[in-house]
Amino acid sequence: MPVITNIEDLRMLAQKRVPRMFYDYADSGSWTEGTYRANQADFQKILLRQRVAVNMANRSTATKMVGVDVKMPVALAPVGLTGMQHADGEILAARAAEKFGVPFTLSTMSICSIEDIRENTTAPFWFQLYWMRDRDFMERLMARAKAAGCPALVLTLDLQVIGQRHKDLKNGLTAPPKPTLANIFNLMTKPRWCLGMAGTPRHTFRNLVGHAKGVSDMSSLGAWTREQFDPRLDWNDVAWIRQRWGGKLILKGIMDLEDAKLAADSGADALVVSNHGGRQLDGAPSSIAALPAIADAVGSRIEVWMDGGIRSGQDVLKAWALGARGTLIGRAFAYGLGAMGEAGVSAALEIIHQELDLTMAFCGHTRLTDVDRRILLPGTARG
Ligand SMILES: Cc1cc2nc3c(=O)[nH]c(=O)nc-3n(C[C@H](O)[C@H](O)[C@H](O)COP(=O)(O)O)c2cc1C
Repeated sequence: MPVITNIEDLRMLAQKRVPRMFYDYADSGSWTEGTYRANQADFQKILLRQRVAVNMANRSTATKMVGVDVKMPVALAPVGLTGMQHADGEILAARAAEKFGVPFTLSTMSICSIEDIRENTTAPFWFQLYWMRDRDFMERLMARAKAAGCPALVLTLDLQVIGQRHKDLKNGLTAPPKPTLANIFNLMTKPRWCLGMAGTPRHTFRNLVGHAKGVSDMSSLGAWTREQFDPRLDWNDVAWIRQRWGGKLILKGIMDLEDAKLAADSGADALVVSNHGGRQLDGAPSSIAALPAIADAVGSRIEVWMDGGIRSGQDVLKAWALGARGTLIGRAFAYGLGAMGEAGVSAALEIIHQELDLTMAFCGHTRLTDVDRRILLPGTARG
């Protein structure tokens, strides 16, 4: 067993343990993957100012996200098919988040259902919704999330049409999946993963199968999802969701200043500056490059968060310095899950927390509320 000291170690272990089609599904972006790479690369260009001989004792990274106490400004992002990185993946990730003290967000396109998470965890979790043609079904999903005690809904705005990921097509990762000979051979090299899957009944999209009209198996599910993502989504629909939901509303997928202003006008509680982890519009800027202008323009009217490319606590601190009052991590926890199940997600959170805490100290601060752009070397970050 390798010694795990950073998120890259978890990624490498996940690559060994997770079947290629599911590892590639997580570790890829759309088309040239330019935006996917920029999400991480642009964090590296931002430099921190080291300060010395200031009292660094008694530090805390605690804050609130939409009123929820969090041990650090990080929540687990909605990640579809999490239960294919590891058997019962969503339950395990939610448990790790609960133990650590940050929120878990369940994707509409998860393997474990809303009810699975409710029955197997105790902390309130968040639910992510895609806008679909079948409004009855969306209302029922929201009602199920409410019944499970979800205090916040994450409405994803940037996936009404779907970016192409070459690897998924080549690997046959479609609904229904097209198992190639290469995939079957690859599965045979992942006994730990296969054993886990053999021990759980959760193998399909359990929020949908048996709940959406006419969806009973993988092949009817494929047809249903292709027709359900509704390209007509507009701001009136966002208002409709806000009114129906009634709880905290988080709008995810904002990259443009004009959209950020509309999001603030919508009365939502938070917006997430996000390019969907580089999986949608290839050629868009990185999220961290888009963040400062948006935070400056609307940060006083709506909580501004960001995601995309976070692989360390240094990244979380840089995002905070540029105005993000919360962040989401996607791949960082998905790699942990694929590598070691619940213990891997816990490791990802502990690693990021320790890096955040120490980096804040190196920059001369003991609490996040005192951290702002002055910790960044001038000229190395936009905004
Ligand atoms: C494998 C994978 C599946 C995803 N599925 C969803 C999803 O179902 N809903 C959603 O809103 N975002 C989804 N996202 C986007 C994440 O919520 C988040 O925006 C992104 O992962 C952040 O970038 P990072 O992975 O670099 O942290 C997915 C991302 C990945 C990597």
